[in-house]
Amino acid sequence: MQKVVFLGAPGSGKGTQAKQLSERLGIPHISTGDMLRAAVRNETALGREAAPIMASGGLVPDELMVGIIGDRLREQDAAPGFILDGFPRTVVQAEKLDALLAGNGNGRPRVLYLSVPDEVIVSRISARRSCPSCGAVYHLENNPPRTEGVCDSCGAGLIARADDNADAVRKRLEAFHRQTMPVVEHYRAQGVLREIDGEATVDEVFEQIGRSLA
Ligand code: AP5
Ligand code: MG
Repeated sequence: MQKVVFLGAPGSGKGTQAKQLSERLGIPHISTGDMLRAAVRNETALGREAAPIMASGGLVPDELMVGIIGDRLREQDAAPGFILDGFPRTVVQAEKLDALLAGNGNGRPRVLYLSVPDEVIVSRISARRSCPSCGAVYHLENNPPRTEGVCDSCGAGLIARADDNADAVRKRLEAFHRQTMPVVEHYRAQGVLREIDGEATVDEVFEQIGRSLA
């Protein structure tokens, strides 16, 4: 069973790489951010609770996130393996994931940390466009869609995410340094962390990932 976890700052390329890796390995890409955005769009109870927290750049409470991931990992398509993007992002979430995997008789995940300096993050996020329907991610300069404003994969109209504004990005970066860098150290101490140079091109990053998982 292949279990891969992507860690990295907002805009470090987790979604871009996880989507490609999911296609290559044939296991699901599980993005807690995409799941929460779907809940917000569908106006579920979870979506109503998460919307203001996400818009401001803070983190949704651990109990909620652990419940969502526990349910998702029990689904049939995750039986052969999974790629997590955006979870765990606190030490509490990492410890819960460790317990969940140990309880299922599964070993430790491979953890890939996409390292990108904060200045690069800010310019990437300001030019990002996302597909609200299938989750595909574009960049106005580095990775533009074939037709302006239209998703290559599913034809939906592209949007800038509600949390991709300067204030929310600053807060998301702060949350990353304060709450998620300790998760990087948690996995480094377990000896399962691989650090990837996330500043390289999308294809080069994907090659580094392939080598790390070989
Ligand atoms: P989430 O959706 O996970 O957002 P994030 O962590 O801020 O990460 P992003 O999706 O912004 O970036 P990414 O790393 O996926 O980069 P991308 O590939 O798009 O979470 C959103 C919110 O939900 C959180 O703030 C929180 O409120 C809540 N949440 C989610 N999970 C939670 C949890 N577990 N606990 C609590 N709260 C939770 O790439 C970015 C841009 O750069 C794109 O334009 C892309 O085309 C471009 N790009 C990518 N790679 C490269 C490259 N190598 N070179 C040049 N450009 C590149
Ligand atoms: Mg993402």
